[in-house]
Amino acid sequence: MFTSDLLSNKRVLITGGGTGLGKAMAGRFLELGAAVHICGRREEVLEQTAAELSQASKGSIHAIPCDVRNRDAVEAMIDSIWQEAPVDILVNNAAGNFIARTEELSPRAWESVINIVLMGTLHCTMACGRRWLKEKHSGTVLSISATYAPVGSAYVVPSAVSKAGVEALTRSLAVEWGNRGIRLNAIAPGPIPTQGAFSRVLPLPKLEPIARERIPLRRFGTTEEMANLAAFLVSDGSSYVNGEVIRMDGGEFLQGAGEFSNLGRALSDEDWESLKPRKKS
Ligand code: HXC
Ligand code: NAP
Repeated sequence: MFTSDLLSNKRVLITGGGTGLGKAMAGRFLELGAAVHICGRREEVLEQTAAELSQASKGSIHAIPCDVRNRDAVEAMIDSIWQEAPVDILVNNAAGNFIARTEELSPRAWESVINIVLMGTLHCTMACGRRWLKEKHSGTVLSISATYAPVGSAYVVPSAVSKAGVEALTRSLAVEWGNRGIRLNAIAPGPIPTQGAFSRVLPLPKLEPIARERIPLRRFGTTEEMANLAAFLVSDGSSYVNGEVIRMDGGEFLQGAGEFSNLGRALSDEDWESLKPRKKS
């Protein structure tokens, strides 16, 4: 889909890059010539991913354990990367989530998600953004949101409020920092099977077919589809795209909005035949 040097000379930081979508983006960016840094809380997971991906590709990958909830730890991580050279691309991908009835959430449960998703994204974006502005270095930020961010969703409310904040940050800073060479965009994916997400938001076997049925394409997205869209959005090929949230969900969001969209399931071929106007004799 892309030339193999699309991201050559680009230095990337992907938070939560040891697993799932972050790992898939890291692998794709490496294939496209980038130098990739991945961070997460679990060092052994990061090291294993780095070893696996470096075998499969010629690019360089570095694992840095870092908890994005901790602003000082984020600053130290970014400093350590910057010592060699500035980051060009930040991907805010780290997240926490689970389904629960909102009235049962403890204060710590709220914080466990908000501190990763919203505060972690803020810490990383500010750490890179301040350095870019100071050094007059261009940069791009891609944040991974969710399709429910603009409208909310029951049962994942800490995530919904956090992702809404991430989208507001993306759109606001796209305007504030755009004139100084910094672009910010986001991807809002529909369900893509990863162990981290599906074990937490579709934790019972009966939930998976219900989720698939909501999607007009009748299948979940793939990590490859996600990685390709991400590669486009962080590359110079999309240099005029700024402040956008690109939904990638097989049409799931829109099928919920159209008042008559459920007729495809409710009416049979016979029903449609019976509704055709009768020919006048
Ligand atoms: C209610 C829960 C809970 C649950 C945890 N808590 N899980 N409450 N229902 N299922 C509560 C705990 O009881 C505790 O509160 C508080 O939350 C913190 O829990 P810890 O386990 O100590 O937190 P921590 O170790 O920080 O782990 C954070 C986490 C965990 C978010 C809870 O799931 C995690 O590490 N997640 C990272 C990966 C992840 O979530 N990936 C999925 C991303 S998918 P008390 O008061 O008891 O101490 C996504 C989009 C999906 O974001 C969209 C799909 C379409
Ligand atoms: P995942 O594999 O669970 O990825 C989450 C990653 O975040 C993990 O690598 C985790 O590593 C890291 N992380 C969590 N807390 C962290 C912290 N405090 N500091 C640093 N890293 C932390 O799930 P995924 O499906 O790939 O999700 C990736 C992104 O896509 C998330 O933003 C998610 O909201 C979004 N998304 C996913 C889907 C989907 O269906 N898969 C749909 C919509 C949106 P550690 O635990 O080692 O820290």
